[in-house]
Amino acid sequence: MRTMKSVCIYGYGGPEVLVYEDAPRPHPDAGEVLVQVHAAGINPVDWKIREGHLKEMLHHTFPLVLGWDVSGVVESLGTGITRLKVGDEVFSRPDIARDGAYAEFVVIKESELALKPKSIDHIHAAALPLAGLTAWQTLFEAGGLSAGQRVLIHAAAGGVGHIAVQLAKWKGAHVIGTAAERNHEFLRKLGVDQVIDYDTERFEEVVQPVDIVLDTMGGETQERSWKVLKPGGILVSIASPPKAETAAAHGVRQAFVFTQPNAVQLDAIAKLTDDEKLKVIVETVLPLSDATRGQELSQRGHGRGKIVLRVV
Ligand SMILES: NC(=O)c1ccc[n+]([C@@H]2O[C@H](COP(=O)([O-])OP(=O)(O)OC[C@H]3O[C@@H](n4cnc5c(N)ncnc54)[C@H](OP(=O)(O)O)[C@@H]3O)[C@@H](O)[C@H]2O)c1
Repeated sequence: MRTMKSVCIYGYGGPEVLVYEDAPRPHPDAGEVLVQVHAAGINPVDWKIREGHLKEMLHHTFPLVLGWDVSGVVESLGTGITRLKVGDEVFSRPDIARDGAYAEFVVIKESELALKPKSIDHIHAAALPLAGLTAWQTLFEAGGLSAGQRVLIHAAAGGVGHIAVQLAKWKGAHVIGTAAERNHEFLRKLGVDQVIDYDTERFEEVVQPVDIVLDTMGGETQERSWKVLKPGGILVSIASPPKAETAAAHGVRQAFVFTQPNAVQLDAIAKLTDDEKLKVIVETVLPLSDATRGQELSQRGHGRGKIVLRVV
């Protein structure tokens, strides 16, 4: 049996349940591709799954390999693969219901894979799919963002936020972003038109009405966001499902997005990257064996851009 290094869990719990070990190398079935992982992005959903927060929704079995952001090289093909060939450099946010990419190899459906942007390395490409698809699906699909509209992005310096800022600017929107003081210059360089310090300012008191709020925080931030929307505007959350009654009471709309794999959107994100319209920022790179530290950093919730595990 051929083995690989991987980081998996045998049950839900704290960072101590992460195990770095040898595991059987998976095989691709029909419509699937075996990818040699070069780098795997870390996202908050990784530690949320590790802690069991999504267990009602996702019926995982153990051992479970974590990590659903990946860049690598096609190693072998299952039957029926038409779009990809061995040796292609690919990136993906694969199906979160299956084993992930904190490993030397991962099996991914062909429909969830796109060719990686040529202009960036695997470390940066692994940081892009989940945040890129989330920003795309919230702003463009759920929010219907168009040129000239105003959008408030909470946690604009985070993994999702810093990509959302750039996609919204590319679309021609006026972008307002919240962050702690240490990230203000970073946000201005990304093109944010109005930077709000969430420690010292109440955004609802300083923001002129907006068409879209991208809510990455939930809770009190979501509650306070209703009043900054224009009549008919939309609050799109990725943190907690907004209440339809509350939206109706404010004369606005609401949506909750759970990001889905999408190779066509990844192609568009790769093109924007290669055209230098979009730049993913990686703050921390760690070896695969340090996944525990990576998750602890992510869980602190104050990163700038992304955290990535180097596998090759
Ligand atoms: N539904 C979905 O499909 C989906 C998809 C992706 C992400 N998510 C969720 O969305 C959230 C954000 O994800 P992420 O990957 O962007 O996380 P992240 O990279 O960990 O983002 C953390 C950011 O939050 C900022 N922040 C912390 N407290 C804040 C506050 N009170 N107000 C404004 N900003 C604050 C931090 O900025 P400072 O350093 O400036 O404090 C930091 O930049 C997570 O809960 C994640 O699970 C959901």
